[in-house]
Amino acid sequence: MQIVLVPSGTAFSCESDETILAAAKRQAINLASACENGTCGACKAEVVSGAIIHDERASALTRTDLALCKALLCCAYARSDLTIKATEVALRSDQPAATVPARVLRLQRLSPSVVGLTLRFPPGMAPAFRPGQFVGIEWQGRLRSFSIANAARGDGTIDLHIGRVQNGQFTNHVFETLSEGAILRLAGPFGEFGIADAQRPMLFVAGGTGIAPIIGMLQALAPSAPRQPIRLYWGCRNSREFYTSAQIDDIAADFADFRCVQVVSDDDAQWRGRSGFVHDIVRSDVPDLCQFDVYACGNPLLVRAMEDVAIDGGVPPARFFADSFNLVPPPAAADPIPSRGATA
Ligand SMILES: Cc1cc2nc3c(=O)[nH]c(=O)nc-3n(C[C@H](O)[C@H](O)[C@H](O)COP(=O)(O)OP(=O)(O)OC[C@H]3O[C@@H](n4cnc5c(N)ncnc54)[C@H](O)[C@@H]3O)c2cc1C
Ligand code: FES
Repeated sequence: MQIVLVPSGTAFSCESDETILAAAKRQAINLASACENGTCGACKAEVVSGAIIHDERASALTRTDLALCKALLCCAYARSDLTIKATEVALRSDQPAATVPARVLRLQRLSPSVVGLTLRFPPGMAPAFRPGQFVGIEWQGRLRSFSIANAARGDGTIDLHIGRVQNGQFTNHVFETLSEGAILRLAGPFGEFGIADAQRPMLFVAGGTGIAPIIGMLQALAPSAPRQPIRLYWGCRNSREFYTSAQIDDIAADFADFRCVQVVSDDDAQWRGRSGFVHDIVRSDVPDLCQFDVYACGNPLLVRAMEDVAIDGGVPPARFFADSFNLVPPPAAADPIPSRGATA
């Protein structure tokens, strides 16, 4: 089968039993990718024409992605000739994504379960990124994805918010042994998450460290002093986890119509604010969501639930944007993915 990339016109062949990403690599064509197991979304691309199927690992695809004919090239297989709108990385190579070193400039415990890192790249090696994108940190032979928690500052540094994962190899290393001055190796930036239209009303929904890319996006909006409604709903398990509220207040000072609602999901005797699941609170506060572009970020359950709330609230698929902090592929069987002209 023949795959044609747009807009470049690059063409390559693909066997029926190899992923589209693997076929491209085999022919020294470098497409954006990171985890290569369907969880991070870095290889997301649009199927302009032709038929594909995904295998069971494709957990980073939302229903909205399917409606928009998106595919994850690391776990998608061609079932006909295809035309694909994909991010071609400038370097044409069959080597894994290049990593660059970055020094831990600052390491702070932001909450009981979140560490903030500020990383500095060597001069001239800082990645150019769009607010909302993520990087991959190489640790014991595998990339771990973390969203960049700031807008570009031009000083060669980025911030990351690292949530601790039970038995997580890298995140436990961050909490227990990593120290300022240490060197990490990073790949990226990756991902499509980011502000789609800076003029439109926006509703952001974050769960836990899902606030990280949203901080970067809000920082990027702030200099233009937006006048349209901007809403932020941030859900955490308990009130001690609202680790960056002061930073949000600072950013909000530049917005004419900004409201932040914090929501606690567990029992918390200290908490006097809103309680429940953050997507339920959005549903009850803003039943008619159609005036907003909706941006959701955090664990996959939250993102899926928020996608339902957005669709029920009248948000068209093209105005719902999400970054899902996926863990492992769901056990679902491989289903054919509808794409334009799909026959499989
Ligand atoms: C696009 C993207 C952006 C992300 N951005 C952020 C971010 O900004 N901040 C952040 O804190 N996290 C973020 N994550 C999640 C983060 O990548 C994982 O928490 C991290 O890779 C875990 O690495 P580890 O080595 O500690 O865990 P591993 O050793 O790889 O995993 C150990 C065990 O924990 C499970 N596990 C892995 N991740 C999680 C998790 N998140 N929650 C619960 N269980 C898990 C695994 O299934 C495994 O059983 C993001 C994920 C994606 C896909
Ligand atoms: S590289 Fe395909 S989802 Fe991560």
